[in-house]
Amino acid sequence: MNERDSEIMSQALAMSGYVESMDIEDADLVILNTCSIRAKAEQKVMSLLGMLRKVKKSRKGMQICVAGCVAQQEGERLVEKMPHIDLVVGTQNIYNIGDLLEKARVSPGYIAIGMEDEYAIPRFMPNESEDSSKASAERDVPTTFRKFVTIMQGCNNYCAYCVVPYTRGREVSRKVSDIIDEVKAVVASGVKEITLLGQNVNSYGRTNIVTDNGLPYTFSDLLHAVSKIPGVARLRFTTSNPKDLSDELMKCFKDIPNLCPQFHLPVQAGSDAVLKKMNRKYSVEQYLELVDTLRSYCPDIALSTDIIVGFPGETDEDFQGTMEMLERVRYHGSFSFKYSDRPGTRSSDFEDKVPEDVKTTRLIQFQARQDEISLEQNRKYVGQIKEIMIEAITDEGVKGRTSSNHIVHVNEESTAIPGDFIRVEIYHAGQHSLKGKLIQE
Ligand code: 5AD
Ligand code: SF4
Repeated sequence: MNERDSEIMSQALAMSGYVESMDIEDADLVILNTCSIRAKAEQKVMSLLGMLRKVKKSRKGMQICVAGCVAQQEGERLVEKMPHIDLVVGTQNIYNIGDLLEKARVSPGYIAIGMEDEYAIPRFMPNESEDSSKASAERDVPTTFRKFVTIMQGCNNYCAYCVVPYTRGREVSRKVSDIIDEVKAVVASGVKEITLLGQNVNSYGRTNIVTDNGLPYTFSDLLHAVSKIPGVARLRFTTSNPKDLSDELMKCFKDIPNLCPQFHLPVQAGSDAVLKKMNRKYSVEQYLELVDTLRSYCPDIALSTDIIVGFPGETDEDFQGTMEMLERVRYHGSFSFKYSDRPGTRSSDFEDKVPEDVKTTRLIQFQARQDEISLEQNRKYVGQIKEIMIEAITDEGVKGRTSSNHIVHVNEESTAIPGDFIRVEIYHAGQHSLKGKLIQE
C-alpha cells in the first residue's frame, strides 16, 4: 500500500516537473512515506528525521515532507517535535502533493491531514511520458514489470491491535472504470504483472457504489474483468481478511487462468480465544475450511500468512494453537511479528500484556518451524518445470519469479532480459528461493 502511495506521489510530482534524485544530499525535496503498523517502523522515521535535520542545514531551500500513517496520526505533534519539517501529508491527501508543497513554501510546517467520511479516491492517471520511473530507466536502473494498482483504501474492521482504520480512514472502493483504465495504461507501458491492492480486497464494492450504472459489483467481478485486459499476463491481489472470503472469490483460482496460484491469507493467531479478542470474526475451524476449499479449487496454491505472537492474554496453550496452524496449513511462507501496542487501538488498553522476552521466544520458535516447512514445501518444486518472469540480471545470470511467487535464480548465461518469460527446471530449493536451469526449446 505504502509502496504504491510513494509511487503515486512520485508520479504526481513528475507531472509537475520534479525529477527523481538518487542522492538525499542532492535533493531539493525529501518525502518520508511512513508506516505506523508497529512501533519499530515508527521509530525508524524519527531517527531518519533527526538525520535529515543535519542534511537540511547544509542544503538551502530543501523541503522535508512526512507522509503516510505516522503523518496522519501525529500531525501537528510532528512539527512541534521536529520544526525542520516543511509539510505533513495525510493518507487521503497524497494526490495533491504538488499544491501542498507550494503552500508549505509560503508557510513551512504546513499540515494537511484532513480526512473525509465521504472520501472518493481520485481518478489518477499519470502521464506516462513524465513518469519518474521512466526517468530512472534512462539511467539504467532496472524497471519493474510488476505494478500495484490500488482498488480501495481504508478499513472498517477494527481488529483490536490495528492502527489502520485510524490512519487510513473508512473503507472506500475505487470506481471500476478508473481501475480498468489504470490497468490498461500500466499494461500499455509494458508492465506484465498486476497486483490489485487494498486492506481487505474481499469487501471491494461493499461500502460505496463502484459502477456507472449503480449495479452491485464484487471483487470476483473485478478479478474477471481485469484478467481479461489484453497484456495482463499475471494477476495477483492482496490482502484478504478470511471473514469476508467468499466461495465465488475462491473459485476464481480455478476459473481465471492468469490469476496466479498464490494467496496471502492472514490468520494472525491459531487460538479461538485470541482470535475473538482480536476481533477477527472467524474461528480456527472456519479458517481451515477456507484452506481446504481453496485447495480443492487450486491444488497447487501457495499459501502465506501473517502471524502476531504475544497478543495480550496469549497463553502458552494459545501459542501452541498458532504453532499447530503451521502443521495443519503448511504455509509456503509467513510474516510474523511480536505484538506491538499502537496508540488508539483497543488492545493497547488491555492489561494482560505478554512480557517482551516471552514474545521473543515465541517468535523465534515460530520462525524456526516456518523455515523448516518453507524448505519442505519448496523442495516439492525440485524436478518441476516452471515458467518464470525475469526480474533482474544478476552477477551469475538472471533472477525471476514463478506464478506461485517464488524467486528463482538461474545461474547461467542467457539472453533473457527483465520482463521476459522463460521456462526452467527447478534443481535446488532453499528456504527463501529456488534455483533453476534453462530449458532449451
Ligand atoms: N502489532 C504487531 N503486528 C501487527 N500487525 C498489525 N498491527 C500489529 C500490531 N499492533 C501485523 C498483522 C498484519 C500485518 C500487516 O501487520 O499481522 O496482518
Ligand atoms: Fe487492520 Fe484488521 Fe483492517 Fe487488516 S482487516 S487493516 S488487520 S483492521
